[in-house]
Amino acid sequence: MSHAGLFISFEGIDGSGKSTQARALADALQADGHQVVLTREPGGSPGAEEIRALVLQGDADRWSAETEILLFTAARRDHLERTILPALKAGKVVICDRFADSTRMYQGLSRGDLRGVVDDLHALMIGVEPDLTILIDMDPARSLDRALAQPTQDLRFESFGEDLQRQMRSGFLALAEEFSNRFVVIDGTRGIDDVAHDVQAAVAAHLTS
Ligand code: ADP
Ligand code: TYD
Repeated sequence: MSHAGLFISFEGIDGSGKSTQARALADALQADGHQVVLTREPGGSPGAEEIRALVLQGDADRWSAETEILLFTAARRDHLERTILPALKAGKVVICDRFADSTRMYQGLSRGDLRGVVDDLHALMIGVEPDLTILIDMDPARSLDRALAQPTQDLRFESFGEDLQRQMRSGFLALAEEFSNRFVVIDGTRGIDDVAHDVQAAVAAHLTS
């Protein structure tokens, strides 16, 4: 899809530092004079935030895997229509904390092999990929330590074991190879500023090309 702006997504396991880095990148780009929209999934538009509450709250088995794919995709469609596409058309930089790659991993891998269903629905209803996807890669044991140090924890995070986080980590790394044209993998185990430096270097290459 061609558009005037730049669409950047952050991906990685829970607690890897995506939100921290997305915020730091937004601040740095704004300071450089870019118009930036910082957003997240699930959510990012009023309707999608309502769906966020449906998918992230309640029992882990509240929805079947297939229903969950539909809900995440419905949220994404609304987010795309109301927030992402208008911003890109206006030439802004959109920074999104998680996008379709999260559905490919979490719904596509964690409860059986549903990757084909995720991809088919994505092609039918979304059809947009980020220009650049930054994968913050790190060992799940270390991200778990970070998450446990936080005062509030995501309900679903608590229900995810380290095994699943490990599966997600290797899934994300495989995805980075599959979509090597748009993925950049960054080591997230270092300090916030070192990681942010690499993120900004990856983005700078896209802003000048
Ligand atoms: P995510 O969005 O991937 O779940 P967060 O950005 O919310 O991750 O970070 C999870 C926790 O780890 C937060 O408490 C955050 O302040 C902390 N954190 C983020 N990046 C780093 C880092 N590079 N080193 C140490 N702690 C970090
Ligand atoms: P969030 O609190 O935003 O977690 P994080 O800070 O780690 O990004 O919750 C998002 C959760 O939703 C996270 O556990 C991953 C999950 N998720 C999916 O399962 N599928 C998706 O398509 C998306 C976007 C998120």
